[in-house]
Amino acid sequence: MRPFRFATVALATAALALPLLGGSASAAPSAGPKPPPHSHASFDRLRAAAPEGFVIGTAVAGGGHHLEQDYPDPFTHDKEYRKILGREFSSVSPENQMKWDHIHPERDRYDFEQADEIVEFARKNRQVVRGHTLLWHSQNPAWLEEGDFTKAELRGILREHITTVVGRYKGRIQQWDVANEIFDDQGGLRTQDNIWIRELGPGIVADAFRWAHKADPGAKLFFNDYNVESVNAKSDAYYALVKDLLEQRVPVHGFSVQGHLSTRYGFPGDLADNLRRFDALGLETAVTELDVRMDVPAGGTPTAAQEKQQADYYRRMLQACLEVDGCNSFTIWGFTDKYSWVPVFFEGEGWATVMTDAFVRKPAYHALRDTLKDARHDDCGRDPKGPGHRKH
Ligand code: XIL
Repeated sequence: MRPFRFATVALATAALALPLLGGSASAAPSAGPKPPPHSHASFDRLRAAAPEGFVIGTAVAGGGHHLEQDYPDPFTHDKEYRKILGREFSSVSPENQMKWDHIHPERDRYDFEQADEIVEFARKNRQVVRGHTLLWHSQNPAWLEEGDFTKAELRGILREHITTVVGRYKGRIQQWDVANEIFDDQGGLRTQDNIWIRELGPGIVADAFRWAHKADPGAKLFFNDYNVESVNAKSDAYYALVKDLLEQRVPVHGFSVQGHLSTRYGFPGDLADNLRRFDALGLETAVTELDVRMDVPAGGTPTAAQEKQQADYYRRMLQACLEVDGCNSFTIWGFTDKYSWVPVFFEGEGWATVMTDAFVRKPAYHALRDTLKDARHDDCGRDPKGPGHRKH
C-alpha cells in the first residue's frame, strides 16, 4: 500500500537504522535441534526472528515506580538485564527517562544523563529508539503543574522543551510519542487534567507536532494511548482528530496503541481492523506498551491455563500488527516481571511480562518468537528490495 514509507524512515535515521534493518541476515534456521528452553543463542532471539523491517522493542526500566523499589536503577546496574536488552530487541523505549519530570526537573535545568545513555546503548546495539513523551497530563514536574505562568509563558515553555529534547536526539529517534493519552475513555479531550489543553486549548496539540517536526524532520510523530486497541469512542475520537489535522497539513505520522491488557477482559479482536483505518489515512501504526496482566493466583504461581491465555494474547496482538502494512514497530512494556510496573499499579494483578523475575522465558515469550519466525518465513522468497517491502 505504501511500500516506500518505512524505507524513508530508515534513510532519515540512516546511521542507526540501516545496519539493523538491512543486516539481519543471521536468519533463523527453519529446522534443526531445538535450543534448550532458556537458550540465548543468537538465532533464538526475538530480534533475529523478526521479518525484515519489523522492529521488536521493549521499555527500558528506570525512573517512575522503580525509584521506590528496593533495587538500584535497573538499566544502569543490572548486567544480566542489559545483556538481554541488547540481544533480544531491535527497538528501545525509555520507560520514564524522557518524561518531563525526569528530563526537565527544574525550569532552567534539563537532566539528559539517563536518556543519553539509553540512546548511546541503542546505537551500540544497532537498535532504534522510540521517544516517550512530549505532551501528557501525567509525570509532569511540580514546578510546571503548580507554577504560576501566563498562557504565553506556558506556550513558550512547551515549545522550548520540545525543541530542546527532540533537537538533542535529532536523527537518533525513529518514532516520538508526541501526544500521549489526550482523550478520556468516552472520547472527550482531557480538558481538565492535561495542563496544556486546559490552559492553551486544543490547538496546542497541533503546535506540539509542528515544533517536534521542525526539531527533527526525520522522526515519525505519533499519537499514543491505551484502550484504543478496538474501534470504540476513544479510537473514533483519534480517527476524527487525525483526519482533521492531516487536512490542515499538520505533521502527524503515526497512531499507536499501548496495549496494556488484562486476562480479566476479552481480547480486542478488532485490533487489525482498527489499525487498518489509520493505515488508510496514510499513517504508520505501532504497538508500543504491550503487557498482559493476570490475577495473582492463590498458590503464588500462575497455572498453565493462565500462562497459555497470556501467551495467546501476546500472540494475537503481534499477529494483528504483522497483518497491517504500516505496523512495523512492536514494543512490550518491559520484558521481565522483576521490573514490571503492573504489581505497583494494579492491585492483585501481576506476571504481566514475557520473562520471570529470573529472566526465564515464559510461554508468552515463545509465542512472540514463533509468531515472528512464521512471519519471517512467510516473507522468504520475496524480492528483498528494502524494509518497506515487508508486506504488500
Ligand atoms: C508507567 C511506567 O511504567 C512506570 O514506571 C511509571 O511509574 C508510571 O508510568 N502509559 C504510558 C506509560 O504511556 O508512560 C506508563 O508507564 C504506563 C501507561
